[in-house]
Amino acid sequence: MNISIIGSGYVGLVTGACFAELGNKVICADNDTEKISDLKKGVIPIYEPGLEELVANNLKRKRLRFTTSIKEAVKESEIIFIAVGTPSLGNGEADLTGIENVARQIAINMSSYRLIAEKSTVPVETGEWVKHTISTHVKRNVKFDVASNPEFLREGCAINDFMHPDRIVIGVESKKARDILLSLYKPLHAPIVITNIKSAELIKHASNAFLATKISFINAVSNICDKVGAQITEVAEGMGLDKRIGSSFLNAGVGYGGSCFPKDLDAFITISEKLGYNFELLKAVKDINEQQKACVLGKLKDALWIIKDKTIGVLGLSFKPSTDDIRNAPSLDIIKALEAEGANIKVYDPQAMAKARSMLKNAKFCKDPYQACKDADCLLIVTEWDEFKELDFTRVKKLLKRPLIIDGRNIYDPKKLSKLGFIYIGIGRSEK
Ligand code: UGA
Repeated sequence: MNISIIGSGYVGLVTGACFAELGNKVICADNDTEKISDLKKGVIPIYEPGLEELVANNLKRKRLRFTTSIKEAVKESEIIFIAVGTPSLGNGEADLTGIENVARQIAINMSSYRLIAEKSTVPVETGEWVKHTISTHVKRNVKFDVASNPEFLREGCAINDFMHPDRIVIGVESKKARDILLSLYKPLHAPIVITNIKSAELIKHASNAFLATKISFINAVSNICDKVGAQITEVAEGMGLDKRIGSSFLNAGVGYGGSCFPKDLDAFITISEKLGYNFELLKAVKDINEQQKACVLGKLKDALWIIKDKTIGVLGLSFKPSTDDIRNAPSLDIIKALEAEGANIKVYDPQAMAKARSMLKNAKFCKDPYQACKDADCLLIVTEWDEFKELDFTRVKKLLKRPLIIDGRNIYDPKKLSKLGFIYIGIGRSEK
């Protein structure tokens, strides 16, 4: 099939590369000329395992093309995916300027039937506005369909998630749109949920909000564990084996971050409010997430008393492992709070340091985890990168000024570290 994807961010780029890999002819469009010129040379603006190879391979086979021209993309494709950003406005509302602009440009450049599918995460009823915008600007007699086809891929395992999804959601209003999307996704052999456009839009917001709720729930329980001396990892295991609950997304930690959960929660709360519903549950989910970051500072104060002039070695900047993305990363809030208390920060991350440098001007960026440990009063784990799980603890102990580890992601075995002479403090794992 001939497909274009408008917007070459995380979702757009992965979607484009994967559709090309499945044998389609794909045009990825973006108005960022520098990004497109890099992509044409196979230079990928983000760190995502396997993406560079996938793009290079499909560029070579001429199944994937990059352009800055929406006109060219619309002219040559029957299906057009909108995958532009929907960032948060100051009031939490999703900024849909990009979506409106793209919808208008698609309409102006359409001369025969096109299926326009929303890929970006959008508030419910955006499809209505996209339809209205296209109808207003399209030439008379040119037919089109709008569909909602939300994406559920995660950063760090985006290609695998795209190629092996738990489900594909298709929100459509016509048999033609339904048939086109069904045949496009046939090679993935995944369960397909067909709904109307509004339900599909809601499935995306509700799924992300539910996952964030699971995380805040387990983080809230971890606070109770800390107070009584129960073990959150055991509690989560015992809960997760109940098939109705499920064991994933029950890892307590320093809170969720990233470009999706915080923004989507805000947008879902705001659209609910606009529709006349006060989504208090999600407001509590947000509050708990903020408290969780503050809780790390509390643990440091309990262990070190005065933070001023103490050196803290921080491992991990990205909002989760296998990505260089630091958008809404808990690390940034935690480091800024520590710096505000007068701490000296030494930090290491395998991928995210380049992106973080301009945001953390006072921190010392280290070449490896051991340099971050040297002469530190405490080692703080913020992101659970695999390489942090296999540190040489004898070396770490020698380098640290005091053998204190605050494990913000519960990656270590507390007993093992205590045996090695460390004071170990995890999340929801205190001994009473
Ligand atoms: C999330 C969703 O998982 C995807 O399904 C969705 O497509 C994507 O948002 C999006 O809307 O584009 P992502 O933000 O890439 O994906 O990352 P996740 O793996 O979901 O992690 C989000 C945050 O939750 C991370 O900060 C992670 O550390 C945290 N988390 C996750 C926990 O603190 N505990 C857990 O048990 C799981």
